[in-house]
Amino acid sequence: MTKKIVKSFFCKNCGAESAKWLGKCSSCGEWNTYVEEIVSKDSKSTITTSFSGKAEPVEIKDIETGREQRIQLPDNELNRVLGGGLVLGSLVLLGGEPGIGKSTLLLQIALLTMGKKTLYVTGEESSQQIRMRGERLATNETACFIYPETSVQKIIQQIDAIKPNLVVVDSVQTLINERVDNAPGSITQIRESTAELLKLAKVSDIPIFLIGHITKDGAIAGPKLLEHMVDVVLQFEGDRNHTFRIIRALKNRYGSTNEIGIYRMNNAGLEAVLNPSEILISNFDESLSGIAIASTMEGYRPLMIEVQALVSTAVYGTPQRSSTGFDNKRLNMLLAVLEKRCGFRLSQKDVFLNIAGGIRVDDPAIDLAVVCAVLSSSEDLSIDGKTCFAAEVGLSGEIRPVSRLDQRIDEAGKLGFQKILISKYTKGEKISGKSKIEVIEISRVDEAFRHLFG
Ligand code: TYD
Ligand code: MG
Repeated sequence: MTKKIVKSFFCKNCGAESAKWLGKCSSCGEWNTYVEEIVSKDSKSTITTSFSGKAEPVEIKDIETGREQRIQLPDNELNRVLGGGLVLGSLVLLGGEPGIGKSTLLLQIALLTMGKKTLYVTGEESSQQIRMRGERLATNETACFIYPETSVQKIIQQIDAIKPNLVVVDSVQTLINERVDNAPGSITQIRESTAELLKLAKVSDIPIFLIGHITKDGAIAGPKLLEHMVDVVLQFEGDRNHTFRIIRALKNRYGSTNEIGIYRMNNAGLEAVLNPSEILISNFDESLSGIAIASTMEGYRPLMIEVQALVSTAVYGTPQRSSTGFDNKRLNMLLAVLEKRCGFRLSQKDVFLNIAGGIRVDDPAIDLAVVCAVLSSSEDLSIDGKTCFAAEVGLSGEIRPVSRLDQRIDEAGKLGFQKILISKYTKGEKISGKSKIEVIEISRVDEAFRHLFG
């Protein structure tokens, strides 16, 4: 039978299908992401949704539970982000920009998981390259097999033969499912190859890590279109020029998505950063203006973060506002609050904001530190390095309470801070007896200003 060739258009970002080319994807809203691909409709669909033999309805109370079984990885940051270890039979997608350290991280895992057999499938580097890298990373004697292969069918055969406890596939963009005609890296290939691996993971209970490249402009068909299929989506981020790398879960069927893991890239691979607060704060001896420290939470872990602001007279008619690691809209909002509610003249000033260490912060408790850093730079008065902040700023300039205050205060106390500014409206929980830190309650932004600068 001659194959009938049917073509269709797919969005490179989210995988949506359309019969005709579209400039803007109606599903994810991205522009210029549609590409044409062959779909051979006559071959039977390769995605099988049922796992062999297990597809019978069972009443929920009759299902055997037992807690999901997890492997403890030799990396506590990753264990925590995964929700307490790697669940057997799960498919975990690790996305990130090229060069960020995905291969390094997972090769480390494959080499250091003691007492287990691991298989590292590579479609990007040769076995020799992996070996050389491995020698820099670990001197351990785990039974780690390196397999340079891109064909999903062959990979599955080898997994069947070796029966490893853990598989790493580097990367999804190089995989070829022989049952599909499209080129590697195309949307159909990525999707069908992942479907095969997913099925394998579920049937065999072997956990699989899948690496996926993401590029800023979305030029490579990417992990986004796999998000609904896999169990866990991890993102590896951080400025390539910074030494810090942050891993976070964007989706996790077995745990929360609040946790992050922080690493430092050095000559011997990625090293977990156990006390991130101490590293993120620069501890200058002399007092500099424009710096304020916030006590924030990332997941269930408190994290002290340094906010740096630079306020200068605008050179052009329209002042520039730009921020790194902090939402630009929120910065504009806070500046408007300062202008309108507190009478600080910032409308003719350029404002630049930076979160030290290349970290991105969404915790609203950083607001007060942002505001104080801006005021400090604007007035050119420094804030005492032993003072920190944990409060949200509302639209009328009021200081609002934030969650988990006792943990934030404790962390600040542990790191030697002497003073923390919080909201007056905090209920209960606030004073923790453990640390000697002085807690100052304020209700409005101008009160903070008076307190800091007299
Ligand atoms: P890599 O894991 O190859 O990135 P990805 O797989 O995400 O594309 O990481 C490559 C970068 O890491 C490269 O720029 C060099 C750096 N690196 C170190 O600094 N130290 C090391 O020990 C290793 C192995 C890599
Ligand atoms: Mg790589």
